[in-house]
Amino acid sequence: MNQLDATKSGFLLCIGVCIFICTFIYLRNTLSKEPSEQKSFPDIAECGFYPDELCSALFEGKSAANQIGHFCQQISHQPEMSDCIRSSCNCSTVLKSLHFITRPLSEEEGNFSLAYIITIHKELEMFVKLLRAIYLPQNVYCIHIDEKSPQDYKTAVQTLVNCFENVFISSKRENVVYAGFSRLQADINCMKDLVNIKTQWNYIINLCGQDYPIKTNKEIIQYIKSKWNDKNITPGVVQPPHMKHRTHVSYKEYVHSGTSYVYPTKNMKDDPPHNLTIYFGSAYYVLTRKFVEFTLTDVRAKDLLEWSKDTYSPDEHYWVTLNRLSDAPAATPNAEWEGNIRAIKWKDQEGVVHNGCKGHYIRDICVYGLGDLQWIIESPHLFANKFEPKTYPLVMDCLERRYRLKVLQQAEVALEAHWYFQESNYFNMKLNV
Ligand SMILES: *[C@@H]1O[C@H](CO)[C@@H](O)[C@H](O)[C@H]1NC(C)=O
Ligand SMILES: *[C@@H]1O[C@H](CO)[C@@H](O)[C@H](O)[C@H]1NC(C)=O
Ligand SMILES: *[C@@H]1O[C@H](CO)[C@@H](O)[C@H](O)[C@H]1NC(C)=O
Repeated sequence: MNQLDATKSGFLLCIGVCIFICTFIYLRNTLSKEPSEQKSFPDIAECGFYPDELCSALFEGKSAANQIGHFCQQISHQPEMSDCIRSSCNCSTVLKSLHFITRPLSEEEGNFSLAYIITIHKELEMFVKLLRAIYLPQNVYCIHIDEKSPQDYKTAVQTLVNCFENVFISSKRENVVYAGFSRLQADINCMKDLVNIKTQWNYIINLCGQDYPIKTNKEIIQYIKSKWNDKNITPGVVQPPHMKHRTHVSYKEYVHSGTSYVYPTKNMKDDPPHNLTIYFGSAYYVLTRKFVEFTLTDVRAKDLLEWSKDTYSPDEHYWVTLNRLSDAPAATPNAEWEGNIRAIKWKDQEGVVHNGCKGHYIRDICVYGLGDLQWIIESPHLFANKFEPKTYPLVMDCLERRYRLKVLQQAEVALEAHWYFQESNYFNMKLNV
């Protein structure tokens, strides 16, 4: 590098730093609350002293916050919160240090039990974040760990799960292939376990490891009771022509160490059993207990399951097809796409349902970045997909901090100190949007 270039780079760097500092000062001045000491990342005062203020500004969609957020995201290095799990702390320490809520937060919630199926395969940190967000003692949780996950991951999840009476790992595990039958089978394995436990749960909800709640447990129950009283929620419509290949030809799963996928064969499939009309919809559902028992025992459900074994992504037709049968328990035969189960930014809905992905797309689904936070919290959906805390740590940090405050604000019982993530908060926002 010659002297001129060096001077030029130095000058540019200086300008960059100035812009950063000015933006930071600007941002601080636009925020009202008086901050006091709070060190989360002691090395980086700008990012760590006022995380709630930065989050507030991100939730309000301030563009200056985005720039600072990006900077902070690159340099933030938080302690691994799973350390305690891996280093075999005792359970009371694990529960306390990870801020698990250990009592129902209202009588209404204590009376209404949700069963969760969570299918996971990697990233312990994200699993802990998800579980501690949705965990409550009156609910039950079946965790399906992909059979091909690394042993130390399985062990760590098992260690955490052992601390709870109402969380367990499914008794049968699948090697899950994207868009394959194994994905559907994983849910069914959990359902078989869940109908046999003593807790009389009311509804079942399925999640994957990259989901995070937008609505609180209380809001989820109120949404189910007010909009869907005793009905199943399975968004979807009669299979459109461009989806017919999924069930018209026979697909096979290719499973080999390292890679697995499904591929179409040249074989045509028979018509669906019992002359069933095949629907196409979301793999995410909210189902009543009676409907789950029906799908595990009814002859049409069993035959449809068998027929679906060599179809493409059967979890996107199985539940919705059965829930459109007029005699199925809690069925909604005339429903279509309604049901606010999952906020997803699909690539092909850019400009229609959302303003573009501020993170990046994976298989046409947005992995949320900082610029997506406002859209997420304003969404009417119960959960959002997809999150990658390794890539965008601040997205999860902000959502977690805000979500927990909202949960505690809605509580109708005395709160315990360790339920709070932050000792005091500087959120400058409406928590109820
Ligand atoms: C768990 O560990 C903590 C800290 O090491 C200790 O104070 C506590 O008594 C232990 N609790 C139980 C139930 O063993
Ligand atoms: C909860 O259940 C109990 C017993 O069934 C009932 O007496 C009470 O009214 C219920 N409370 C609410 C808020 O639903
Ligand atoms: C199958 O269903 C179609 C309409 O969905 C109907 O027209 C036909 O008669 C049915 N066939 C049998 C054998 O039930």
